[in-house]
Amino acid sequence: LKEIPIFQHLSDEHLTLISKGFKIYRVKKGEIIFYQSDESTDLYIILDGAVKACLLDPDGKELILNIFKKGDFFGELSLLDGRPRSATIIAIEDSVVGLLKREHFLKLLKNNPMIVISLLSALVERIRMTDEMLGAMVFLDVSRRIMKFLMNIAEKQGEKTRDGLIRIKKITHRELASCTGASREAITKALKVLKFKGILKEEEGFFLISKNFESCSF
Ligand code: CMP
Repeated sequence: LKEIPIFQHLSDEHLTLISKGFKIYRVKKGEIIFYQSDESTDLYIILDGAVKACLLDPDGKELILNIFKKGDFFGELSLLDGRPRSATIIAIEDSVVGLLKREHFLKLLKNNPMIVISLLSALVERIRMTDEMLGAMVFLDVSRRIMKFLMNIAEKQGEKTRDGLIRIKKITHRELASCTGASREAITKALKVLKFKGILKEEEGFFLISKNFESCSF
């Protein structure tokens, strides 16, 4: 538990208390952990794997709000205000999650200012990311939203090729649509334009991004 950022400042005594109230579950890739509007209020911590927090509409369209990985927590909104879940959580890998009851976590919060600070910092980071996504959806056209999203990935996982391009793993049109808030049709159209302008290329399993894309007119 000490490796989980939100618990890192806790004493051994408190960690033992948490481990007693902790239930551990395994979930398979694609499994839904809970739906938006569910009435549960527990906090989840990812011990292994990854999940996505998303909004789903009745036609099956999806908007991904965030991806959570090992060491991250989710479910803090219903935990804090007692209201229904604000989003649906789906495992994107086989995962192991720990569940901490609301009463248990609230007691910890009351006795540990450092946990409150960690929780607030994570919430602040989530608000900043949401603001950024909202701004992109309102102010950027679909091509620019795609490039902003791909460049964020490129910063973390991109490799430079010999001819000065940046290579990242290919992402499906469906995933791009879910992450940029655009329809699949709009993504297909925008990708065509980006390829035509030489900003983006596709190679078996990869996207290749031109480094000078910011100076190109889309
Ligand atoms: P909760 O509302 O309890 O259940 C859904 C969870 O998804 C929520 O708590 C947060 O953990 C997470 N979530 C909801 N909206 C966002 C967002 N905009 N950014 C990051 N995470 C979110």
